[in-house]
Amino acid sequence: MTLLAIETSCDETGVAIIREGRVLSNVVASQTAIHAEYGGVVPELATREHLRNFMPVAAEALRQASVTPAGLDAVAVTRGPGLPSALLAGLKAGQALAFCLRKPIAGIHHLEAHLYSPWILADPPRGDFAQFEPSVSLVASGGHTLLVHVRGLFNHRVLGATLDDAAGECFDKIGKLMGLAYPAGAQIDRLAADGNPKAFQFPRPMLAEANDDFSFAGLKTSVRYFLEKNPGLLDDPRRLRDVCASAQAAIVEVLAGKTARAARRLGARCVTASGGVACNNALRRELAAACAQAGMRLRLAERVFSTDNAAMIGILAERKLMAGAGEMDLDAEIEPNWALPLA
Ligand code: KG4
Ligand code: ZN
Repeated sequence: MTLLAIETSCDETGVAIIREGRVLSNVVASQTAIHAEYGGVVPELATREHLRNFMPVAAEALRQASVTPAGLDAVAVTRGPGLPSALLAGLKAGQALAFCLRKPIAGIHHLEAHLYSPWILADPPRGDFAQFEPSVSLVASGGHTLLVHVRGLFNHRVLGATLDDAAGECFDKIGKLMGLAYPAGAQIDRLAADGNPKAFQFPRPMLAEANDDFSFAGLKTSVRYFLEKNPGLLDDPRRLRDVCASAQAAIVEVLAGKTARAARRLGARCVTASGGVACNNALRRELAAACAQAGMRLRLAERVFSTDNAAMIGILAERKLMAGAGEMDLDAEIEPNWALPLA
């Protein structure tokens, strides 16, 4: 099966071509430069950019894969959750393509695609479901923070989620307080590499609580109070790096700590992590240490498949279609608030 997958749930326009578990191309047009000016994603601008970028991105994905539209057997699109107008741009493009080609279209859950993205290898890019095993999985992105119990392929239940800000949102908001450009996660990661994570003490929200939920709004507020109480601190580049390292340490300790604890409680043999925040070097290190100590395997999404991309949508869609699942009607609607099943 040769499939064209579309991702437009937030601020990346992605198109990928998938054939029998292989990623033939995976093109992403990022809009971060446009939204950086506003310190966050502006839905109207995101939609305009998706509409503007879709055709060139799709053409480039087909060109790189040496595939023509006539050679496609199926289409897949992110149906939700996400920004409604952004989702709509991708869904309508996908439905129009499927209609013209008279081929099936799969409607994919964006977070389910993140959830199974650790089973995509980078070089050469391809699905690796032969290695699949049940897991406790962290999905941490700019919009979501979830702990999920994956009992089998496509058999998963959400254990806990953030009660307020997502982990990536926390990175981005703390970055904004420090005058860093949106999205700030990767910059904080880089600056923190040369900072002291113990320089300043920030709270570890909900780390000690016996549940699988998260809360990051209070941490951001405590960084804001700290910066207000210490004006001029960030003028010293060394202190800026220390604040980055200390704030990052708080986020990472909570994410890794609660993930490892849920995995131990459920007797999981494998832990996975995905979503943009799973690119974070400190988080990758801390999860590796926690899993090594507990004798659990760790499967981290490859960085290129961690941030939003259409390859994860297509890899999942192909497996679903092959299993007789995932197909949607040509007039199916977006699902902006689509939730994963709860434990
Ligand atoms: O998965 P993603 O591309 O989009 C969503 O579905 O939200 O995640 C984007 C988020 C942003 O908040 C960004 O700051 C964060 O992932 N991020 C990072 C890193 N790289 C991206 N956060 C921490 N460390 C990183 N290296
Ligand atoms: Zn995402």
